[in-house]
Amino acid sequence: MDSFLIKGGVPLHGEVSISGSKNAVLPIMAATLLTADTCVIRHVPDLSDVRFMGKILESLGAEVKFEGDTVTVRAAKVKGFGDYELIRKMRGSICILGPLLSRLNQASVSLPGGCVIGTRPIDLHLKGLRALGAVLDISGGYINAKTKRLKGTTVFLGGRVGPTVLGTANIMMAATLADGVTVIESAACEPEVTDLANFLVSMGAKIAGIGSPTLTITGVKTLHGTDHEVIPDRIEACTFLCAAAATHGEVLVHGARAEHFAAVLDKLREAGVKVERKAGALLVKASKSLKPTDVTTLPYSGFPTDVQAQFMALMCGAKGISVITERIFESRFMHVAEMARLGAEISIEGPSAIVKGGRPLSGAPVMASDLRASAALVIAGLAATGSTQVHRIYHLDRGYERMETKLKKLGARIDRVDGE
Ligand code: EPZ
Repeated sequence: MDSFLIKGGVPLHGEVSISGSKNAVLPIMAATLLTADTCVIRHVPDLSDVRFMGKILESLGAEVKFEGDTVTVRAAKVKGFGDYELIRKMRGSICILGPLLSRLNQASVSLPGGCVIGTRPIDLHLKGLRALGAVLDISGGYINAKTKRLKGTTVFLGGRVGPTVLGTANIMMAATLADGVTVIESAACEPEVTDLANFLVSMGAKIAGIGSPTLTITGVKTLHGTDHEVIPDRIEACTFLCAAAATHGEVLVHGARAEHFAAVLDKLREAGVKVERKAGALLVKASKSLKPTDVTTLPYSGFPTDVQAQFMALMCGAKGISVITERIFESRFMHVAEMARLGAEISIEGPSAIVKGGRPLSGAPVMASDLRASAALVIAGLAATGSTQVHRIYHLDRGYERMETKLKKLGARIDRVDGE
């Protein structure tokens, strides 16, 4: 398993370009199952999760071709039965259920795995599909769904901590070919859901309220192919902003859409980080002394849970107490124990991590546990003095395109070490 070897303490300087959004492209690739025509998706990041989704679509009978940052999918003939082992491995694969059911009136998809950040239930997905008239049963690790024909309805999709991103995606996709009108109340408003809705509209779907908590989908008979460019990855952008700030550097971030992460920009500025627009890019400059800042993760447009770990790494360098509260997932502090190996002083009180920042971090071997925790450990290693080896960075490769190459270009001393 690969690891990163980082020699920290070097301020990042230079320019970085943000890749396409992983969390937009995964449901968009699933949406290609809704038509027999060819769909061209551009600005696709080269990530293991994306290639994996391609394999899942192929296992369903679709033709998938990756060429540079474009993927072409033609699901002319698809079967409703996915490869158990393939689908079980990636949480995001749950969003093939809605399109398959809508296109074929039946689907058997393996239950998606949980992961270290939480149990990842799918009760809201199932609630939405049942509301549309699907008969579901779960046996042998599969969700078996069937219907005569999905029928439009009104369904409230809010859960115990607010909306569900992929649940909204699944039900919205299923509703595009259902009979009649579907209203999704308490829909997720993340930019990735909006990008999916725009993709579906470009295929001929009828969707109103895009970007709002109430989506109204009027079913159509068929959908046609399309050509779509995926939005930039706001989480990757915020990761690089935190890395630049944590190393007291100065970085110009190209290709990000600042309006997709206003809450993060607000907290960075509160922490004393300068972020300004410059010729269509974002210039981030960190003053020597960062200020401690409290953060609570919330559904969009609040502070995103996917930036919580990276911001915590930044707050380790801010002299004083920062309280970071995770409201979306029940166990998303796996990075805390590893950060302690670097000298971070963080205690956990229920849903909050109390960061006592200001003591310089010093390098040590650490273990990545999930995608965003790995990014946080890289940031902490870049800020620490001495060497840090981040093991199991396959977690990182799921969601960051060539991270070490982009960081090297910014002056970081980081190398990928094979098989460590
Ligand atoms: C998406 O996951 C993202 N993944 C996650 O990003 C992101 O953290 C999450 O949304 C929240 O923004 C992809 O888009 C591939 P949810 P998703 O359903 O849709 C509970 C990353 O690092 N819930 O919005 O699976 C759930 O337990 C990943 O890129 C139910 O209770 O998340 C959680 O507490 C990690 N019942 C909350 O809702 C359900 O049926 C939000 O989950 C579904 C979810």
